[in-house]
Amino acid sequence: RPGQTLAGRRALVTAGPTFEALDPVRGLTNRSSGKQGYAIAAALAARGAAVTLVSGPTALDPPTGVQTIAVESAEDMARACEAAGRVDVAVLAAAVGDWRAEAVAPGKLKKSEGQDRLTLTLVRTPDILARLSQPGPNRPRLVVGFAAETDGLLENARDKRLRKDCDWILANDVSEGRVFGQDGNAVTLITAEREEAWPSLSKAEVAARLADRIAQHLNGAD
Ligand code: C5P
Repeated sequence: RPGQTLAGRRALVTAGPTFEALDPVRGLTNRSSGKQGYAIAAALAARGAAVTLVSGPTALDPPTGVQTIAVESAEDMARACEAAGRVDVAVLAAAVGDWRAEAVAPGKLKKSEGQDRLTLTLVRTPDILARLSQPGPNRPRLVVGFAAETDGLLENARDKRLRKDCDWILANDVSEGRVFGQDGNAVTLITAEREEAWPSLSKAEVAARLADRIAQHLNGAD
C-alpha cells in the first residue's frame, strides 16, 4: 500500500535500558527488556525505512535489516543518536536512566568492617528525547516518545509531550508489573490533535500500528 511505505525514509529508534557504572563491576540499570523498541525498529524496516537502532544492553538479537548500535550509558546513547545524523522520524523507546554516578570508582567499591551505610552522589543524564525535539534544521519531522507511568498516566503523558516538545507520545501503564519484559502492551497514542486508546496488543502489533501511523503522517495522509 503506497500510503504505508517508508521507502526512502530514515528512522532512529532507541531501545532497552541504560547501564550507568558505579565501579568496574556494578551499575545502575532498570527492567526494560528492549522488546517494544526492537519491534518498532523491525516494523519500520519492514515498511522500507533505513533504520538505526541504538540499544542499551538487552538479551535480544538485533533485528535483521536494521543497523544496530550497542551502547551502555545514557551519554553513550545520546552520542550514538547524534552520530546517526538527520532522520525523518525518531522513536525513543529506551528506558534511559535519569541518574548516573558523579564519579565512577576506578576500583571495586569495598565495604569495610562495621560500615552500614554508603552514600552515592548521582547527577542527571542527558534527556535525549528533549534534545532531539529541539527546533532546528536537523530536527526530525516526527519525534515520538514514550511515557511509562504507574499513576496519572494520561495527565503525565500529555504534560510530557508538551514539556519535551516531541510530537507524539505513546503512553503505557507500567503499574503492577505490567509491560516490562512482557509480550503485551496497552497504549494510548497522544498527538496534538487527538488521543487514541489502542486495545491490548502484542508489542509486535503496537509496533505495526505505530509504523502505519508514522507512514501515514510522513506521506501526508493524516
Ligand atoms: O522523562 P521520562 O523518562 O519519563 O520520559 C520518557 C521518554 O523520554 C521516553 O521516550 C524515553 O526514551 C525518553 N528519555 C530520553 N532520555 C532521557 C530520559 C528519557 O530520551 N534521559
